[in-house]
Amino acid sequence: MSTAVAILNQKGGSGKTPITINLAGALARLGLKVLVFDRDGQGDLTTGVGFDDEIFADSGASICTLLTQGEGDLRQLICPAPCDAFDVVPGNIQMYLADKALFTVHNRERRLERLLEPIISEYDYILVDCPPNLGTVTDNALLACRHVLVPARMNKKNTRAITILLDQIETLEDAFRVPIDVIGVVPVGYVPAADQK
Ligand SMILES: Nc1ncnc2c1ncn2[C@@H]1O[C@H](COP(=O)(O)OP(=O)(O)O)[C@@H](O)[C@H]1O
Ligand SMILES: [Mg+2]
Repeated sequence: MSTAVAILNQKGGSGKTPITINLAGALARLGLKVLVFDRDGQGDLTTGVGFDDEIFADSGASICTLLTQGEGDLRQLICPAPCDAFDVVPGNIQMYLADKALFTVHNRERRLERLLEPIISEYDYILVDCPPNLGTVTDNALLACRHVLVPARMNKKNTRAITILLDQIETLEDAFRVPIDVIGVVPVGYVPAADQK
């Protein structure tokens, strides 16, 4: 059975990308088949797993096209990660355009879910590195994955961000009548009081 997880906190710098890459690597080393999506226009995951500038330049446009068309074969965008034994759908700066491009299309929040359907059973885990906002691309990730892992720094800004994120999840659950489970919060940069200098 496959499990899809959105790695999400709309606060930037909370550790989404490194946690997604490390989780994918750890699961792959357990012998599991893993697909990772870079859905952040900054493309940090794409460059972080070792893709060169050419892939970085090309790939974002293609995933945007598939999302706005609402059909097409995702397999054409899947590449083996250069750094480890998992697959990646790379992203790039074009991802910033996806929110705008999706704005006027029908059923815009469920495009990723539909694209994933034919390939989901080929993977044990699908991980989506989300952008640092709660736009349509993020709604797509939440509805496609139905599980959310929230990396968070232990401070007030992140507490506020999580409150807003939980509201958004509840809104989507009500609107689309589907459960979306927060499977955990990963504390990032936490230093126990006893170790603080
Ligand atoms: N578990 C961790 N503990 C401490 N620092 C971390 C941890 N995971 C990631 N970081 C650091 O946190 C920073 C934030 O990561 P970043 O990729 O900017 O997050 P995001 O993808 O949420 O924007 C990076 O400098 C990264 O090295
Ligand atoms: Mg990131």
